[in-house]
Amino acid sequence: AEIHYHEFVARRVPVKRLCKNHNILTINGQFPGPALIVRNGDSLVIKVVNSARENITVHWHGIRQLRNPWADGPEYVTQCPIKPGATYTYRFTIIDQEGTLWWHAHSRWLRATVYGVLIILPKFSYPFATPKQEFPVLLGEWFDRDPNAILRQAQFTGAQPNVSVAYTVNGQPGDLYRCSSQGTVRIPVVSGEKILLRIVNTALNQELFFSIANHQMTVVGADAAYTKPFTTRIMMIAPGQTTDVLVSADQPPARYYLAASAYQTAMNAAFDNTTTTAILEYKSAACGKNGRPLRPILPRLPAFNDTATATAFTAGIKSPGRVNVPTEIDENLFFTVGLGLNNCSVPNSPRCQGPNGTRFTASINNVSFVFPRSNSLMQAYYQGVPGVFTTDFPPVPPVKFDYTGNVSRGLWQPRTGTKLFKLKYNSRVQLVMQDTSIVTTEDHPMHLHGYHFYVVGSGFGNFNPKTDPAKFNLFDPPQRNTIGTPPGGWVAIRFIADNPGVWLLHCHLDAHLALGLTMAFLVENGVGELQSVIPPPADLPPC
Ligand code: C2O
Repeated sequence: AEIHYHEFVARRVPVKRLCKNHNILTINGQFPGPALIVRNGDSLVIKVVNSARENITVHWHGIRQLRNPWADGPEYVTQCPIKPGATYTYRFTIIDQEGTLWWHAHSRWLRATVYGVLIILPKFSYPFATPKQEFPVLLGEWFDRDPNAILRQAQFTGAQPNVSVAYTVNGQPGDLYRCSSQGTVRIPVVSGEKILLRIVNTALNQELFFSIANHQMTVVGADAAYTKPFTTRIMMIAPGQTTDVLVSADQPPARYYLAASAYQTAMNAAFDNTTTTAILEYKSAACGKNGRPLRPILPRLPAFNDTATATAFTAGIKSPGRVNVPTEIDENLFFTVGLGLNNCSVPNSPRCQGPNGTRFTASINNVSFVFPRSNSLMQAYYQGVPGVFTTDFPPVPPVKFDYTGNVSRGLWQPRTGTKLFKLKYNSRVQLVMQDTSIVTTEDHPMHLHGYHFYVVGSGFGNFNPKTDPAKFNLFDPPQRNTIGTPPGGWVAIRFIADNPGVWLLHCHLDAHLALGLTMAFLVENGVGELQSVIPPPADLPPC
C-alpha cells in the first residue's frame, strides 16, 4: 500500500463560463478540482491550506473513516472550519472500497465549485475485463452569482434559493449553451474498445438523467462498491451518488453526445439549454464535406417528471451476489423527511418571501436541524463539553399522519434543535425514510456519513410496517452511501453501527440541507482500542 501526499490550496481564481468571468473558489486554481487516484488499501495525507478569505472544510464523500471521524470534514460536525490563513491535514486510509467516490467542500454552499473525483483502483483487478481507458464524468451545476450569496439571500428572505443557470460535465456546460462549444468535454474512443466511465453527480440541487446516444451502458459499480452488471440506456443519478459504467465503442465511427438533463424540479424539458453535453468521439470518425467534424448525435432523455424510469433504474442496482445484511434488528427507526413552511410572526416581513408570506424550512421527524456555532459536535462529545447538543432525537415522528399529502397545516411547522440519535456500538440498525409529501412530493437523496448501508427496500405511498418488511431484499441489496427517498414514497436501509463517532445523515440537495433536512447519529465508543475513536490530531482547527 502507498501513501499519497497532496497539498490542497483553497483560493479564488477567475473562471469564464457562458461568456462571463466569475471569481470562484477552487483547490489549486483548478475547476473541477484535482483528481485523486489511489488504490484500495492506500492512505492519503492531504494538507488543506486556506488561502481564501472565507472558512472552508473538505469532506471525502463515501470514505468510511473507520474510527477516524476527525478526517470526515463537515463543518461544526466533526471539526470546526479551517479559517483564512490556517491549515489542516486530513489523514485517512481506504479500507475495502473500490470504485468511484469524490470529495467536496462541506461548508455552506462552497461545494458548488470546490469538488473533484476520488478514484479507488482495485487492490488486485476488476471483476470484469480491464477497460482500455477510464474517464471521469462529473455532472455539476453552474451559477451566475456567488453560490453563498444565493444561500444567504434565501436564508434571509425565507424564499426558495435561486437555481443554477447551467448543468455541466467536468465543469463545462457543453455545446447547447452559449459560448460553451470551445470547452466541450471530448472523450476519445477507439472502435471495438471498452471504456469505463466514472459518473458522479456533484450538482448542488439537481437529480439528473444521463444517457449516451446510440450506446448502451453496463452498470458495474455504484458508490465505490461493485454491482451485478446490467445494461441500460438511461440512468438517474442523485447528488452525492456515483455510478461506474462500461461502454463499448461498437457503433459506426462518429461523434455521439453524452447528455444529462433534469429529473424532478426541472424548469424545462430535455434538449433545451438545460441539457449539458460532452462528446464521445471515435478516433476514426469521418468529417463532413467541408472538412469539419460532423454534428454529434443526441440521445433521447426522459421527461423531467419520469419517476418510473428513475425508480426502475435505481431498483435495478444490486450487489454482485449474496451479502451480509443484518437479519435481526436492534434499532428500528422511522424518519420522515421533507419540506415545511413556517408562518412568520410579522406578516409579509422581509424574511417571509415563501408562498403566502411563509418561510421555507425542512426537517427529519419534525426536527429542523440547527448546526452549532461554537464547537463541533464531535469535539463536544469527545471532550465532554455540555450544552452543544442533546441526544433526544425521536426514533419515530412525534405524530403519525398520512404521508401522501393533504395534511393539516399544523403539521407543516417543524421545531428546531441540535438533536442527535444515540446508537450503541455494533447495534444492528434498520432505518426507513419516508417522504412527508408536505409542500410537494420530492425525491430526497439521503447521505449517511461514516458508513455504507444496504438498501433493502423502497416503495411509493405510506410505508407499511406489517407488510413491507416481508418483501425486503436481504439477499443481494446494493451497498450505497446515498439513496433517494422516492417522491411520495419510502426507502429502507440497514447497517451495523460499527463506526464510533458523530455522523451526519442529510439530504444531499444543499437547498434542503440548508433548511434543516439533516440530523446526526452519535455512535458510542465500544470497549477496547479497536472499537473506539482514535484521538484527535494535534492540528484539528480550534473552534
Ligand atoms: Cu457529500 Cu455531507 O456530504
